[in-house]
Amino acid sequence: MSNDPNYRSVTCQASPNIALIKYWGKRNDEFILPDNDSLSITLDLNDLYSYTTVSTSSSMTSDTFYFDGIQQTKLSGRMQKVLNEVRRRSNKDNQIKFVEIRSHNTFPESTGLASSASAYASLAIALTNLFNLDNPQSTAAYLARIGSGSAVRSVYGGFVRWSSEGECLSSCIYPVDHWSELRIIILIFNSSKKPVSSTDAMQRTRETSTLFQARLSTINEKIEKLIEAIKIKDFNTFAEIVMKDSSQFHAVCMDTYPPVIYLNEQSKHLIDLVHAYNRMDGNKIMKVAYTFDAGPNPFCFIRQEHVEEFLRLLKYFYPTTNDDVHGEVSDVKEEFSSIKLPIMANAVERIVRTKIGSGPKIIP
Ligand code: DP6
Repeated sequence: MSNDPNYRSVTCQASPNIALIKYWGKRNDEFILPDNDSLSITLDLNDLYSYTTVSTSSSMTSDTFYFDGIQQTKLSGRMQKVLNEVRRRSNKDNQIKFVEIRSHNTFPESTGLASSASAYASLAIALTNLFNLDNPQSTAAYLARIGSGSAVRSVYGGFVRWSSEGECLSSCIYPVDHWSELRIIILIFNSSKKPVSSTDAMQRTRETSTLFQARLSTINEKIEKLIEAIKIKDFNTFAEIVMKDSSQFHAVCMDTYPPVIYLNEQSKHLIDLVHAYNRMDGNKIMKVAYTFDAGPNPFCFIRQEHVEEFLRLLKYFYPTTNDDVHGEVSDVKEEFSSIKLPIMANAVERIVRTKIGSGPKIIP
């Protein structure tokens, strides 16, 4: 293929993002226009990412897609939608005929870790570059969004807002280094596939939940408060808003009929553990905040100074026979004995330590 003079190829790496204020509900399914604004943190490329190479050449006779090196029998409807939009936009030069897409993730799919976000963001940016599309940033955001809503936020690094008005695109509200002591610790309790996809569940919520409207009516106020907390690095306010939005989102899922339940026993245990831990010093400072997407695995936000202590807490409450899970963290006995919660042996499959990232990268 590389002997073909018309062969061109672009590779892009993009990370998942974690919603601090969740996107849930579409007012337009085809263009993925959201019911509400959302706010997220893009993760560091060094830890978790999707890696997508898109190539084209005049000798290709169809679009092909390889995931983890394995050719897929067909492209998903959403992937086709993205490619059709690229064809529409690049038609003037008749540039695009067919493409080959090769993609892989460094983390398990469908665990509530937004693998579709990083996958579509990397695909969108690679396509935008490969075909030199106009207005590359907004075009990439648009293409990512019609692939998977939350992917629009992975097109940027740092703290990102996705607007539900106007063009419904995303923008970086604070860059990666704005709050550099913030860390993210992800606990993977369960890496099996989620029971109901976000796409199906949010549609069901729209049709059946009455709490949903109440959520929408207060979301902008909440976002403004959170942006202010991020601006002045007020972790206490940040933590409270983030945890409450996570709970409200899961309450709305529960209010959906039939209910959608993403949290499990371990998730509930972690929620209690974080609150007990935050209360240990008399509730004066919050050390950790959690949020859960459409899955049971918590994303914990914490400042660097508390990371080692929190990792010891996790080792104490989630002991495991797999040495890799806790790594070098030292053993503890007395430190957390005031927390009266059960010890959950072998509950955690993996712990990922990461931080805020600077956004996608084109790989030379
Ligand atoms: C709970 O972006 O996966 O993670 O737009 O249908 O592809 P589609 O849904 P998706 O939904 C993500 C929902 C969420 C919250 C969020 O990331 O904001």
